[in-house]
Amino acid sequence: SRRLLLNIPPGPKPWPIVGNFGGFLIPSFIQRRFGQQPSTSDKTAVGVLTELTKLYGNVYSLFVGSQLVVVLNGYEVIRDAFSNHPEVFSDRPDIPAISIMTKRKGIVFAPYGPVWRKQRKFCHTTLRNFGFGKLSLEPCILKGLDTIKSELLRLNEESGGAGVDLAPLISHAVSNVICSLILGQRFHHEDREFRSMLHLMDRGLEICVNSPAVLINAFPFFYHLPFGVFRELRQVERDMTAFLKRFIAKHRETLDPENPRDLTDMYLIEMLAQQANGNADSSFTEDYLFYIIGDLFIAGTDTTANSVLWVLLYLILHPDIQDKVQAEIDEVVGTQRVPSLTDKGSLPFTEATIMEVQRLTVVVPLAIPHMASETTEFRGHTIPKGTVVLPNLWSVHRDPTVWDDPDTFNPARFLDNEGNLMRREYFIPFGIGRRVCMGEQLAKIELFLTVTCLLQSFTFRLPDGTPPPSLRGRFGLTLAPASFSVCVSPRI
Ligand code: HEM
Repeated sequence: SRRLLLNIPPGPKPWPIVGNFGGFLIPSFIQRRFGQQPSTSDKTAVGVLTELTKLYGNVYSLFVGSQLVVVLNGYEVIRDAFSNHPEVFSDRPDIPAISIMTKRKGIVFAPYGPVWRKQRKFCHTTLRNFGFGKLSLEPCILKGLDTIKSELLRLNEESGGAGVDLAPLISHAVSNVICSLILGQRFHHEDREFRSMLHLMDRGLEICVNSPAVLINAFPFFYHLPFGVFRELRQVERDMTAFLKRFIAKHRETLDPENPRDLTDMYLIEMLAQQANGNADSSFTEDYLFYIIGDLFIAGTDTTANSVLWVLLYLILHPDIQDKVQAEIDEVVGTQRVPSLTDKGSLPFTEATIMEVQRLTVVVPLAIPHMASETTEFRGHTIPKGTVVLPNLWSVHRDPTVWDDPDTFNPARFLDNEGNLMRREYFIPFGIGRRVCMGEQLAKIELFLTVTCLLQSFTFRLPDGTPPPSLRGRFGLTLAPASFSVCVSPRI
């Protein structure tokens, strides 16, 4: 009745106190506590959110506790919101557990406005210049892939046919790309400092998303509780802060303004220039840099690593497509040289395969929460200021009105009759609008080089007698494939 009265989008009736998410949280708690299946349905949470459109239409609302959340579904609605109303829908909500950690600085969770704009523009341009200029991205990625390849061979032999878990190898290579661009340094996968940083990041995210620490969002003072995950979260935050501050201090001490080594140097140079110009209000400070580095690590590692893992998993489950990708690589690249970025454009089937996996899996299925910065009328409904707005990207990629047979894995849907790659408007794994992924170009390059290099070198298959892993995925901050092991056979 409150919905009708205020003309806010329709939606299911909320539970007392917990809101609609009681329907998700309580069954999942029962499952964890008692090991029972909460329901017989094999739908993912985003699948369930998409199903709700059948009852309430493409713009509907939910309550998380007392917070109003509007879910936008389908391409038309999402494009309408983010392209036609960018000034209203580009803000980010103040989510207590996240705001405590980020202080609403950095890029990802920074409020929409001039500070976010300047910081994003600076980082975007710097990454682009480094990526394609002096500190060229390609050799940096290829070096990491060399390490993966030899490690994979060694572990495969040692496993005696039981298979290798690819996740740590891929995650190490992807993290090293970000480390090189931001910190100017690569780490050996056994480096203690590097391993503990990755562990801290994983653990911090796991606690924020998948532990009783989510209660901080309802009761922010829980953050200070002296026990359990609350205490652990504060420790993780302290360790992470010490690690990054050490790096920034080392950069400051060794800075040579004529020879910037990485994004941190470029940022410090910009900061000093703004100070020299007497710009006392500048947002370019060491403190802000700290949050930017954290953001780029978090936004740029799990997303890319999980996308690579999804591609490999699909290829293992579809050996015919794996053969076709390899045949294309063999024909265009051959075996005498490693694939390069100049091959992008000549490997349409490989690119189409990567895109098709991204379409089906959508590693950030609900993007990052947006917020309405003012009360607005949208498609016949009132969306009050402060409403959390979730673009359901998954619904766009599974929409039967724009994709034929959307649940089927079919890379050819991205190719025209001549076998050339076709850009598809409804393919939006990086989101759209002003908050579109800042690392889209970098991620595409990493995905392309990683997949082509690995497929040129190895054939991937499941260990004998292993049942095919589920394609349902694990939903944390990103949608990751369930862990799986592979056996590899060298091809060159
Ligand atoms: C935001 C996807 C890799 C940096 C996002 C968003 C999505 C996304 C869906 C949210 C868009 C929205 O809020 O509407 C992906 C995928 C990736 C990937 C699928 C890999 C395949 C990267 C990489 C970086 C990065 C490698 C950085 C180096 C960011 C940043 C934002 C963002 C900074 C926040 C933008 C803002 O709020 O202005 N990404 N991303 N991402 N991504 Fe990515």
